[in-house]
Amino acid sequence: MTQPDSITAVQTMLGAQGYVCGRALATVVFLSLKLGRPLFLEGEAGVGKTEIAKAMAAGLNRRLIRLQCYEGLDASSAVYEWNFPAQMVAIRTAEAAGGADRGTLQSELFSDEYLIERPLLKAMRPDENGAPVLLIDELDRTDEPFEAFLLEALSDFQVTIPELGTVKAPEPPIVIVTSNRTREVHDALKRRCLYHWVDYPDFEREIEILHARAPEAAEALSREVVAFVQRLRTEDLFKKPGVAETIDWAKCLLALDVINLSPEVIGDTLGAILKYQDDIQKLQGSEAKRILDEAKADLEPA
Ligand SMILES: Nc1ncnc2c1ncn2[C@@H]1O[C@H](COP(=O)(O)OP(=O)(O)OP(=O)(O)O)[C@@H](O)[C@H]1O
Ligand SMILES: [Mg+2]
Repeated sequence: MTQPDSITAVQTMLGAQGYVCGRALATVVFLSLKLGRPLFLEGEAGVGKTEIAKAMAAGLNRRLIRLQCYEGLDASSAVYEWNFPAQMVAIRTAEAAGGADRGTLQSELFSDEYLIERPLLKAMRPDENGAPVLLIDELDRTDEPFEAFLLEALSDFQVTIPELGTVKAPEPPIVIVTSNRTREVHDALKRRCLYHWVDYPDFEREIEILHARAPEAAEALSREVVAFVQRLRTEDLFKKPGVAETIDWAKCLLALDVINLSPEVIGDTLGAILKYQDDIQKLQGSEAKRILDEAKADLEPA
């Protein structure tokens, strides 16, 4: 598919992939595509940061390449590695066969055949469908040296492999960086990107998301579930439920043939929305009923 030519076209394209995208988010997505700038998405867990990269790749019919960040991630796991075991086998085989000429062996060992491409290098390879979507997920989990390295990679989209030469992307990939903000990502990197804070959706949008992701749920139940979760997010919790939890919970309730929420049902299924014992404990007793009553009041026409 060609690039969407308006903000509304972005919303339609993502909507076709089951991704509900508000105007503000659609605007930064549109601009990042149009200007070729990386998109930096920050937000709580389970609000649809990773999912948007998937929806964009599917909507644009591009390959999705994901670099999952973690503590200790280094350049070699992000860009390329040499297949050391295979190289060893090749050396042994050559030795057994009477020993190949040193120079030939060397150039064979450091050829594409023994190169293991990691996400950043993969994202720089040409693709018949156009530049891939490169998702750099949860950047806040890596450390600063890796961030500095990434900054460079993102500025010129080329990698130099000493034994092979420089690989340059014919067309820069569509880059999406996400962070859960467990720490601040460096300004220098942010400056290169278009930034958007992905917030919890409001009631109407969360209903829309539920329609897209759990269409089997009846309207009345969907509304109660969303109203309850929205209320729950205003409580003092260690970990607030994300959209992912809302969807999970609705599916659990469906599996139990629940038609309406009750304090008992909520108590039995809390594990789908709250993942910390302290939070679950807070909702024991009359608390679930109080929040449910508030949620139901929210649903009543004013
Ligand atoms: N706007 C949306 N439209 C449709 N589905 C959504 C939307 N937002 C979230 N979801 C659903 O919520 C799930 C979780 O979203 P996602 O994995 O993208 O969250 P995240 O922000 O990356 O969270 P984390 O920080 O935990 O990785 C997705 O699988 C998707 O089904
Ligand atoms: Mg994610």
